[in-house]
Amino acid sequence: MPDSLVTVAYIAASALFILSLSGLSNQETARRGNLYGIIGMVLALVATAAGPAMGTSAASFGMLAGAVVPGALIGAVLASRVAMTSMPELVAVLHSFVGLAAVLVGFGSYMGPQTPGMSALELKIHEVEIFVGVFIGAITFTGSVVAFGKLRGSISGKPLMLPARHLLNLGMLGGCVVLGWQFMGAGHGATGGVPGGLTPLLIMTAVASVIGVHLVAAIGGADMPVVVSMLNSYSGWAASAAGFMLSNDLLIITGALVGSSGAILSYIMCRAMNRSFISVILGGFGTEGGSTSSAQKPQGEVKATSVDETVEALREAGSVVIIPGYGMAVAQAQHSLSEVIKILRSKGKNVRFAIHPVAGRLPGHMNVLLAEANVPYDIVLEMDEINADFPDTDFSWVIGANDIVNPSAQDDPASPIAGMPVLECWKAGRCVVMKRSMASGYAGVDNPLFYKPNTEMLFGDAKKVIDEILGKLRG
Ligand code: TAP
Repeated sequence: MPDSLVTVAYIAASALFILSLSGLSNQETARRGNLYGIIGMVLALVATAAGPAMGTSAASFGMLAGAVVPGALIGAVLASRVAMTSMPELVAVLHSFVGLAAVLVGFGSYMGPQTPGMSALELKIHEVEIFVGVFIGAITFTGSVVAFGKLRGSISGKPLMLPARHLLNLGMLGGCVVLGWQFMGAGHGATGGVPGGLTPLLIMTAVASVIGVHLVAAIGGADMPVVVSMLNSYSGWAASAAGFMLSNDLLIITGALVGSSGAILSYIMCRAMNRSFISVILGGFGTEGGSTSSAQKPQGEVKATSVDETVEALREAGSVVIIPGYGMAVAQAQHSLSEVIKILRSKGKNVRFAIHPVAGRLPGHMNVLLAEANVPYDIVLEMDEINADFPDTDFSWVIGANDIVNPSAQDDPASPIAGMPVLECWKAGRCVVMKRSMASGYAGVDNPLFYKPNTEMLFGDAKKVIDEILGKLRG
């Protein structure tokens, strides 16, 4: 394929990626957005494989197929087996691959033969690209591995609070700058053999890997949602750096799109959790599950309710707001819930959903599940759109949610989630919370909501209990 055609294909793919991102910003257009992304990626792969960079020998195509085919098969099998609730872990692993790829591309590009005809300035710029690319890649790689461990629970969610940790990060960053200076000074090793800058490059990789571990280890469990989107952003910049090293314009564009959209998402999530973006990046926020020693213990009495009483309350209520959380996702209760809603709406009740920005375990988790169960989009509202309506609501129904409806975020400054905006479901006439036990949620914080005078607990698996409610409403 001639160069000009590759350029056209790259421009088309870039446009499709931008259309994909804009499509994904809205539930109604998300499917189309996904399709644009897939078409763009196929176009990009074909153009790269058929472009001049690959050469025309059968051996190079064989090598490409040898990497792409098993990779695609393994990826497809693993991704199809992943439960929706484990998606953040998968995303973290995938980010680590991007980081590792950027490191390997950097070393390959440095150790491999130089592009003939490069001027001294171009060579220097190329060396900067290599150094920065490997630096970002190494941070992304080890940071994502630690995030994976934390999300999976194999590494403690407790923030690692080393003394003078900011100074430590600054020291390591300073060290990398010095190593960069040495690397640039050593030259590319044009005479063949091992390039002189390899030692500083290797040391910097080790230091950047430690920075990656330290940055993510210092972030507490409650702030992990932001970490996932932040690493998403890092992986984008790592890909972009790899694009510079390989002189691949499309990789630069795609990386920049991922990098900036990840940064915007991190910012939005920080705002949703009332955290400062910089503080989360520098680490040390959030605490491990259950470590609420300084937080107040909830006072009051817990009232349990039954399926019959809940059905009665639903029959009497004119307006119902449902707050779904992680438990609804685990129980896969959305389909039965959708049937319950159809019945309630057919009886003329005003039924709406209140979605917290960090409900569940990944951005948009609840929206995806409700869309899958064909819940109409217009009754699914964001926190800001519905929070003021709770005082005028007859019945608020919490389904497998906990942290996102915890009033201590507002009332208890010592709480690990203090300051996080929450859905004020306790302001409704009556509130029923459905979960299996009195256990705490992801942030490991006790929830005073369960002890409020107008709250009743309906214990049990969300799917099982909703099926029972559905049976009674139909009967
Ligand atoms: P959580 O606070 O984790 O609470 C979920 C509750 O669901 C648990 O307390 C659990 O109580 C209940 N549950 C579990 N399985 C259930 C089942 N089968 N049936 C009924 N209930 C069940 O969830 P949330 O309120 O959605 O808040 C989300 C939390 O996750 C926040 O802290 C957020 O920061 C964090 N987080 C979010 C993200 C994103 S991006 N959304 C990513 C990572 C972390 P029982 O055990 O008593 O049933």
